[in-house]
Formats: sequence, C-alpha cells, structure tokens
Amino acid sequence: MNKAAIDKLMKPKSVAVIGASAQPGKIGYTVLDNLIKGGYQGKIYPINPTATEILNRKVYPSVLDVPEAVDLAIITVPVKFVSQVAQECGEKGIKALSVITSGFSEVGRHDLEEELLEIARRYGMCVLGPNIVGTLSNSDKLNASFAPFLPYPGKATLITQSGALLIAMDAITYTRKVGFDKMISIGNMADVDFADFIDWLNEDENTNCICLYVEGLKDGRKFIEAGRRSQKPIIALKAGVSRHGAAAAASHTGSLAGAVKVYGGAFQQAGVVQASDLNNLFDRTLALSLQPPLKGDNLLVITNGGGVGVLATDAAEKYGIPLKFAPPEVQEEFKKHIPDFGSAKNPVDMTGMASDEWYYETVKLAYAHPWVDGLAVLYCETAMTNPLEIAQAVKRAIDDSGTSGRPVVVSMVGGTRCDQAMQWLVENGIPAYGPPDQAMNAMAALKEYYSIRAVLNEDRVEPDPARSVRARQIIAAARAEGRLHLTELEAKEIFASYGLPIATTKLATSEEEAVKIAREIGYPIVMKIVSPDIIHKSDAGGVKINIKDEAAARETYRAIITNVHNYKPEARIQGIVVQEMAPAGTEVIVGSVNDPTFGPTVMFGLGGIFVEVLKDVTFRVAPVNHHQIEWMLNEIRSAPILDGVRGEPPRDRAALVDVIYRYSIMISDLGDEIAETDANPVLVYGEGKGCKVVDSRVILKKK
Ligand code: ACO
Repeated sequence: MNKAAIDKLMKPKSVAVIGASAQPGKIGYTVLDNLIKGGYQGKIYPINPTATEILNRKVYPSVLDVPEAVDLAIITVPVKFVSQVAQECGEKGIKALSVITSGFSEVGRHDLEEELLEIARRYGMCVLGPNIVGTLSNSDKLNASFAPFLPYPGKATLITQSGALLIAMDAITYTRKVGFDKMISIGNMADVDFADFIDWLNEDENTNCICLYVEGLKDGRKFIEAGRRSQKPIIALKAGVSRHGAAAAASHTGSLAGAVKVYGGAFQQAGVVQASDLNNLFDRTLALSLQPPLKGDNLLVITNGGGVGVLATDAAEKYGIPLKFAPPEVQEEFKKHIPDFGSAKNPVDMTGMASDEWYYETVKLAYAHPWVDGLAVLYCETAMTNPLEIAQAVKRAIDDSGTSGRPVVVSMVGGTRCDQAMQWLVENGIPAYGPPDQAMNAMAALKEYYSIRAVLNEDRVEPDPARSVRARQIIAAARAEGRLHLTELEAKEIFASYGLPIATTKLATSEEEAVKIAREIGYPIVMKIVSPDIIHKSDAGGVKINIKDEAAARETYRAIITNVHNYKPEARIQGIVVQEMAPAGTEVIVGSVNDPTFGPTVMFGLGGIFVEVLKDVTFRVAPVNHHQIEWMLNEIRSAPILDGVRGEPPRDRAALVDVIYRYSIMISDLGDEIAETDANPVLVYGEGKGCKVVDSRVILKKK
C-alpha cells in the first residue's frame, strides 16, 4: 500500500476536477457542484479547455496551468482523453487520481487500463478506479463523486465494486439510519484494491467498521493478509454466487467472480464476517459499528411478549447463538423485577404489563450481571406503554449499569411509534431492529466476528518446501513424458512423502510378482491397472476389489490385462498395482483446486451422495491451520455423521484433521505445479483407528 498516495486520495488538501463542465446534467458538472455543496474546505480547481468560469470558480485550461500544488485529480473526461490527462497530472506532481470515466477493462479495453497504469507508475501516482462514482467522506466534508449527498453520518466505511450500489446505499443510510463516515467506489481496481483500503482504514480514526460489496477479488491472498491485519471488523456481501450471477459480475467489473464456497472459506480465513443480502449487510454493519463483539455464549433475552421471545429463541438457535437457561441464582434476582406469572428463565418474560421502569430495572440488572455476555431486549407495542420511553429506559439502564463492553441489540415490533423509538436508539448508539430475527442475526454477527478473529493468527502453517523434493522429481519425470495426469502410484508416492496415510500399494510387472506382493500385504487385496493412457481405470475394467486368495489373484491379473487391451489396444501398460483392501470406514473426500483468485484451495466433504448429489463440501485457501480444519469439519451439513450414527462410535476426527492439514501443506508447496487433486475416498475409522487414503489423483498445471 502506498499510504502517502492514498492519504492524498482520501484526505486531499486540494482537488482538480479535470473535465469540469458548466452544463448541469454532466458528470463533470455534478462532481464540481458536489465538492462545493458538500462543504469541502480545501482548494478546488476546475479544469476545462474552453470554459473560463464554472459555478463561480476560475477555470484552468489544463492542470499544468494551476499555479499551486494539487493533491487529487478527479478525472471526468471521455476515455480517449484519460491517458493524456493522466500524463499531465504526473508532470504536475499529483499523486492521486480518481478516474470516474468508464470504458476500460470492464468493456474489454485492458490495453487502455494498462496504459493508464503505466503512466501512474512512472510518476508514482495511485489510481482509484477507473469506472467509479468517486469517494465520499463525512469527516472531511468531501463529496468527490457524482452521488447526490454525503451519507448519514456514522463510523462505518463502505467499499464497493458497484458504483450504482454506492449511490443506492448512500440513500438507504438515511432511511435505515445506518451511519457511514466514508463511501468508496473501487470500480475496476486497476491499482488500489480492497486490501489497500483495508490497511489504510485500519489507521483511520473515523472508521470503526469496514463494509464491503465484493463481486470479484483480483489478488485473493493479499486480501486475506489485509483482513488478518485489520483491527476493525470487516463485513462483506459477496455478489455473483449463482452461476448466472457469477457471469454477470465478471462482465460488470472486468474481474472474475470466484466460486461461492471458495470465497466463503477465504473470508473466514481473512477474519471477514459475511452478509447474506443487502438488508442483512445494513443490519450487521449497524451492530458491528455500534457494539463490541459477543465474547461468550451467555446471551440473555428480555421481553414483554412471549411470542417475540419464542421467535428470538428460534432465531438465536438458527444463527448459532442458542439460548441457555440462566442459572437458578440469576433467575432469583430477575424474579424480583417481574410478576409471578412472568418467567425468569431465558428469555426473561416481564409480560405485557412491563413498564419503562420495569425495563429499566431488568436491563440494568442484566447488563451488569457477570453471567450475561450479551443482551437482546425485545418489545411488543402495547397500549399502556410508549415505545420511545421504553427505548430511553433501555439506554438509561445501560448507562447506569456501571459496566460496558458487552453487546446489546433491541427489537421493537409495532408501528410508527416503534419506528421512531428505534431511530432514537440508533442515534444513541444501540442497534435496533423490527423483527426479533433481524436483531438476533445482528447479534450473531457480533459473535461470528469474535469467534473467527479469536483463532485467526493462532497456529499459522508455514509451507515446508523441503518435503517437496521427491514430489518435484516425480512431477518432472511425468512432464518429460508429456503427461499432465500422474499415475496412481506416482500420486500416492507424493501423498506419502507428505506423511498422508495411504493404503499400501505396490507395482507388479508380472503375475508372479503380483502374487508375491499379495502374500506380503495379506489377502484380501485390490488390483488396479497402471497405465499413463488410462485415466478412468474402472471404465476400462482395470480395477478389481476383494481378491481373496492366490488363485483369484492370478486370474484377476490376466483378466485386467485382457480388459485393458480390449478397451484401448494402444494403451501402454506399466503393470498392475496390488493394494491392501482397506476395511470399510466412513468415506470422505479431500481434494484441491488451484483457484484463479486464491491459488491452491483444499476441499473437504463426505463421500458418496453427500458430495455427488448434495455438493456438501467446504473449501479453504491452503495451507490451513487446525482451527480452520475443525470449522471445515463442523460446517458441512453431513457433519453429524462424523460423530457416529446408528450406534457407530465417533470417527477419528484427530486423524482426519491431520490428513487435511498435511494435504493442504502438500498442495500449497506444489501450487506452482499441481492443478487439481483428489483423495477419494479417504476412509475414516473409529476414534484412535486413523484414516486411509484409498485412491488418489493428481493433475498437473499446463505450462
Ligand atoms: N481536459 C479537461 N477537460 C476536458 C478535456 C481535457 N483534456 N477534454 C474534454 N474535456 C471536457 C469537455 O470539454 C467537457 O466539458 P464541456 O461540457 O464544457 O464541453 C467535459 O470534459 C466532459 O466531456 P464530454 O465529452 O462532455 O463527456 P461527458 O461528460 O458526456 O462524459 C464521462 C464523460 C462522464 C467521463 C463519460 O465518458 C463516462 O465515462 N461516463 C460513465 C461514468 C460512470 O458511470 N462511472 C461510474 C461507473 S459505476 C456506475 O455504475 C454508476
């Protein structure tokens, strides 16, 4: 990150608008008008070759004619003039360009974008965009964009790849009362990208939460590192998750949108909380920008209505923060403030009789109680109470509790009086929502933030290139033969060099040798063809399992050779592998793909229908630490199967974690060589009994 250049971009002391126009309706007019109307305190220099005065400001024909230094140039000239204008900015000594103009890589004109970048590099300028709306900053009174107004003030900062969404979200900040200090349209990210801004915003005192709208990253690993470094919560909405959506995103921004599962895993590794849609992005941003994280499991709900209490309980479980009953001694304390027909368990139900005073006493007690890690206050509108007075009582109770550092969210279910009360709460730093589901989801974001950050930098995995020596020899030999598919034996030898527990497998080049190996391994055995020309061995009749004795082994040897000859007469046969017949276990799949955005990524799922039909798999960017692997194991839908089903004992999780750990190091070390791999199936046995990699596939990158 070029911090000094981004300082000039975000906090300029002087701004030139190149392409400023006197014609209302043109972007060059709007940007200049916005700078003035927004109350920007620095110097403004409109640049236009023919005009002499626009909006009562002296106009210069070129930026080179401006007598003083200029920090930021906002470019609003048509694409064909951008390079020339950028060149002049460089000569003028300007260090930051905000290029609003469209017509670059997003429409296939990568050459124009490259030309712009070359000029920028030559003069040490940073480039925001091109193809952007601009930037907005409340704390700097800087509306350097063609969005109509600065956002509703607050401490979140939005970075968005969609300029149109910036304008829409800017307007929504007022209806939702979600406060932002800055909004940044990042466009094609030719130069400055999400990671650069995350680093920069980390030091921005006016930002306490970073809110992202992401279509596609260019450098996934840089993003993950910046996310890890961030001291502030980051929340992201990833667009382009459907197949169709992914295609739309690619053409919109000029960058490729990656698969949803890879992004999901990568966001978690970057410590980034995710949002499911635009509303959810606002809900969660509101909580993350106003409240501390939820650090424990004891979430207490206070309500005046049983119904909303049940809805909140359901939602809490759905979002991974299930409610627990408060301990009896805690319940006793609550009972002092609620009628006999209420409930002091959790939710604490004060009943419809609850007044603002009851809310005050109960919230104050709960917020200060050592058992309580976080608090959700629910209110159903009643004829006897005034929602605003309830809201004020909640705020007063928290202020008077003598403690802080625990999150609180409020849900108010009712009409316009509730809307006004919620607005008051938000203005006073307490996130408030209508339905309890929304409030609990926001609370879950505070928990997710805490959980993913807590283990982020623990147990980091360092690649181990020394192990890769033998693997690289095998790969080089295959490449020398013009092959990208390794044989099973080659793949297994690579796996074994990383300490993966492979089923014993040896090559026999004759029937006699096969029988000898089988005796060593012990029956039953498996036999498989080894041929660089046969990728799908079963289709060629090249795999036989459960061979029980020597006679069957001899017969099978001959049968496999005949099958393969018949299937593909020209296939080169290197021999037949004799493999131990691994006992039945729970089948899982571990695999990898080299993702264009993130590089080597490791995948895990349960085998059979779980992977084939339900696509119940999860990804992480490799290498992956033990905490992340535990998450992978827990987050697939079929996870309970690993705990043992139908009376089976739990599976050997520790061994499985170790397999995924070693696998991720292997694909990471060999990321320059390997395109895809499969260990399928990996059999997982009961606790303490380990795992076995039964079949393996390695496909090399084209070079
Ligand atoms: N130096 C200074 N000014 C110049 C120069 C120069 N070298 N060359 C031209 N100009 C002036 C023009 O004379 C004109 O001023 P005028 O009105 O006094 O004649 C002004 O620059 C603008 O040029 P126009 O030819 O009028 O171009 P126009 O304003 O129609 O379009 C624009 C320019 C807005 C940059 C357009 O090319 C464009 O890219 N539009 C899309 C921008 C956009 O939407 N970006 C965000 C995408 S994200 C989203 O989805 C919202």
